[in-house]
Amino acid sequence: MTPDLKTHMAVQAIRIETRLDHLLGGSEFLESNKSPPRLLAAMRHGVLNGGKRLRPVLVLECAALLGRCDEGVLDVACALELIHCYSLVHDDLPAMDNDDLRRGKPTVHRAFDEATGILAGDALLTLAFDVIGQEAAHPDATIRLQLSRELSKASGVVGMAGGQMLDLQAEHCDRTEIEIYKFHAMKTGALLRYACRAGAILADASNDNIDRLTRFGTTIGLSFQIADDLLDVVASPEELGKATGKDADAGKATLVGLWGVERSRKELDWLLADAKELLEPFGATAETLNSIAAFIATRSS
Ligand code: IPE
Ligand code: IPE
Ligand code: MG
Ligand code: MG
Ligand code: MG
Repeated sequence: MTPDLKTHMAVQAIRIETRLDHLLGGSEFLESNKSPPRLLAAMRHGVLNGGKRLRPVLVLECAALLGRCDEGVLDVACALELIHCYSLVHDDLPAMDNDDLRRGKPTVHRAFDEATGILAGDALLTLAFDVIGQEAAHPDATIRLQLSRELSKASGVVGMAGGQMLDLQAEHCDRTEIEIYKFHAMKTGALLRYACRAGAILADASNDNIDRLTRFGTTIGLSFQIADDLLDVVASPEELGKATGKDADAGKATLVGLWGVERSRKELDWLLADAKELLEPFGATAETLNSIAAFIATRSS
């Protein structure tokens, strides 16, 4: 990551985490006097525990590219991060990937227990829709409804949850390139695609620009999972804050498993070139998004 992008991401992450802390604290959203402290603590553990905050940053950057950067965008960005964090809490459960370490700390079910992990995920998912439905997210109820329905699709049976099902069903099975592309686009791509699309919608962009940023999101979504699977092979648990070498052990179907490391790196280069081409019409204003795309393709954590 370039030093400029590092600083920029750190500043945005603080903004996002401050808002997430409020949403998971004594805010109007939770009426915390009614919230079981153990469940709230587990939710906070699953969210306020580090993390790159890439999806919310993408919402902010895509909206800013097209001229919108108010607090409403921040709420939509945080709603998406709540869903991402819920997906991680559930992904780590014994019935799924059975992981003990996430973001350098014990996973939620290890720090609490399995039932609490399941409930924390449920409560994060539902909180996200409360946040996005509030007037603060966008003054126009039609836009809020659109963002909310699209978030539901991106997270649900045709998006992340559906992709997770296909990922589990593919364990110890042969899958073709096309099949793996499809479930990667669902389990990981759908939320990254949504991040870019939501940013454009919030900025009241033209259909052309919404479509362009959606395609950008789809492209970096594919890169993101290939890089994640590559890091599972080549990185260390210290660098990643999570266990490595697990995909092969669990018999996961990945493009990296199919292609090997070198071919996977080439594919990341090609996808990065596609992502950059999609941003060309925006010229120098898209510099940060360009750097984020490069970071995703070449990241080491
Ligand atoms: C990890 O996502 C899970 C995948 C979708 C591959 P991130 O690498 O964005 O995780 P955090 O949020 O930075 O911890
Ligand atoms: C998870 O993919 C994608 C999600 C929808 C959470 P992985 O299972 O590869 O993510 P990590 O490696 O545990 O972060
Ligand atoms: Mg998984
Ligand atoms: Mg996992
Ligand atoms: Mg992984």
